[in-house]
Amino acid sequence: MSKNNKVVVIGAGPGGYAAAFRAADLGNQVTLIEKDDSLGGVCLNRGCIPSKTLLHLSKVIDEAESLKKAGIEFSNPNIDMKKIQSWKNRVIKKLGGGIKLLAKNRNVNVIHGTANFINDKSIKVTGENEEIINFEKCIIATGSRPSTLPFIEIDHSNILDSTSVLSLDKIPKNMLVIGGGYIGLEMATVYSSLGTKVDVVEFLPRLLPGADLDLTEILHKSLKNKLNNILLNTKVTKVINKKSQVEVTMESEGEKIISKYEKVLVCIGRIPNTDKLSLENTGLDIDSKGFITVDEYRRTNINGIYAIGDVTGNPMLAHKATHEGKVAAEVCSKIPTTFEPQVIPAVIFTDPEIAWAGPTEEELKENNIAYEKAEFPWQASGKAISLGRTEGKTKIMFEPESKRVIAVGIIGYNASDLIGEAALAIEMGCYSEDIALTIHPHPTLTETFSNAAEVMEKTITDLYIP
Ligand code: FAD
Ligand code: NAI
Repeated sequence: MSKNNKVVVIGAGPGGYAAAFRAADLGNQVTLIEKDDSLGGVCLNRGCIPSKTLLHLSKVIDEAESLKKAGIEFSNPNIDMKKIQSWKNRVIKKLGGGIKLLAKNRNVNVIHGTANFINDKSIKVTGENEEIINFEKCIIATGSRPSTLPFIEIDHSNILDSTSVLSLDKIPKNMLVIGGGYIGLEMATVYSSLGTKVDVVEFLPRLLPGADLDLTEILHKSLKNKLNNILLNTKVTKVINKKSQVEVTMESEGEKIISKYEKVLVCIGRIPNTDKLSLENTGLDIDSKGFITVDEYRRTNINGIYAIGDVTGNPMLAHKATHEGKVAAEVCSKIPTTFEPQVIPAVIFTDPEIAWAGPTEEELKENNIAYEKAEFPWQASGKAISLGRTEGKTKIMFEPESKRVIAVGIIGYNASDLIGEAALAIEMGCYSEDIALTIHPHPTLTETFSNAAEVMEKTITDLYIP
């Protein structure tokens, strides 16, 4: 069977379904090909949504515990992992159903099957049936998958990756997390709140190497109280999967450490899903790590083929994929647009959360970009004090002459919900005066953003700066 389509999108993650829906809204005839049974990609089925659902539970457990010092003591929670899993699966199913309906309402033709390029104008889809689809425009949004170390085999039982760690139906007694990045620290937060003794091993000298050290140090301090052990500058050299436990050999500054764990989670980064697409039949360019090379229109080197989301490289974030998806769909529809955001905000949903928009302060230094910084410590925030969460801070980096905002970094309770305003300020080209003169509601943590701008403007009254 052969069909003619205007736009074919491969992959129904946050990038792919956004591209398909935008293309359909712009009047194209759209086919969306997805190899999984459900839509939503990694983000919905085994990424953002399940991990944040579990993180919400751990946040409530920790907050209930923290009320002891305020005079409210709850008894220890009874945790039923099977029920937690079905709660999490219901959340995923609800959202998945929503995406399916949105596709149906738009007449997007959804095909479940694996896509492979025959050439640069047609695709073979292998699913329940095999079909050939000819296209004028194709948007590749096949995302990424977890990578592992050459000597570690993920069995999804004792040795887990970011997918299997989200589906445990028993709380492990102990767990080693290999990789102190986004996934490692979020999952360490979840399982330590549920009662697991968690160790994290990171081969660099610090956690979250992509974030500013002044922010990660605060997180490190908090995680030190929560986790069993954080091993930095430490390399895992051997992993033996015995039936009942996993024996892990690590090396730290010439010293050998051998420890046994019930579960080991490997989260050391992700690789693009480009190797099983038969891209060699198209002549499409990929880089040395397998990511597809694109320009600001999200065009590949092959006329009519576009790529978006994780498959095009860092940052591998859902909101970046979605935004790129819309750009690619618009470019396919001859709408003049480009993917040139001022900032792509990043959030690590640990406790406290870390969020930033724009370059990190360390990147500004590395690239010799002149800046002035203003910081507001949350010890002076009425809201933070009432929440008992004063460990945070909000910092804004400004262009020295004009005082235009170029970057923002926040650590603290709900930093994830605060960073949107910073992203807007940067996109809108705000100056410190704009932020300082915007009346923020009291008492809220959003005030810490205008307070930091007031520090720059020297109009701050909530601090005394001689
Ligand atoms: P994906 O979501 O990876 O979707 C690609 C789709 O393509 C998949 O459904 C796949 O089945 C399909 N596919 C692949 N090959 C083929 C083929 N040949 N034929 C047909 N279909 C194919 N990001 C955030 O912004 N915030 C978060 O809080 C966050 N949390 C995360 C937590 C975890 C545990 C993980 C693993 C990731 C998280 N991410 C988060 C990252 C986010 O999930 C990704 O950046 C996002 O899903 C990328 O979207 P995408 O559309 O590029 O690809
Ligand atoms: P990551 O790149 O965030 O972190 C991997 C960490 O592992 C790094 O700190 C790295 O130095 C370390 N590492 C690498 N090799 C190692 C080794 N052999 N031994 C010990 N440590 C080693 O990758 P992660 O955590 O797998 O997440 C992948 C991506 O998924 C993220 O980069 C992010 O784009 C996305 N994600 C986003 C989230 C969010 O937005 N909140 C949450 C989860 C994932």
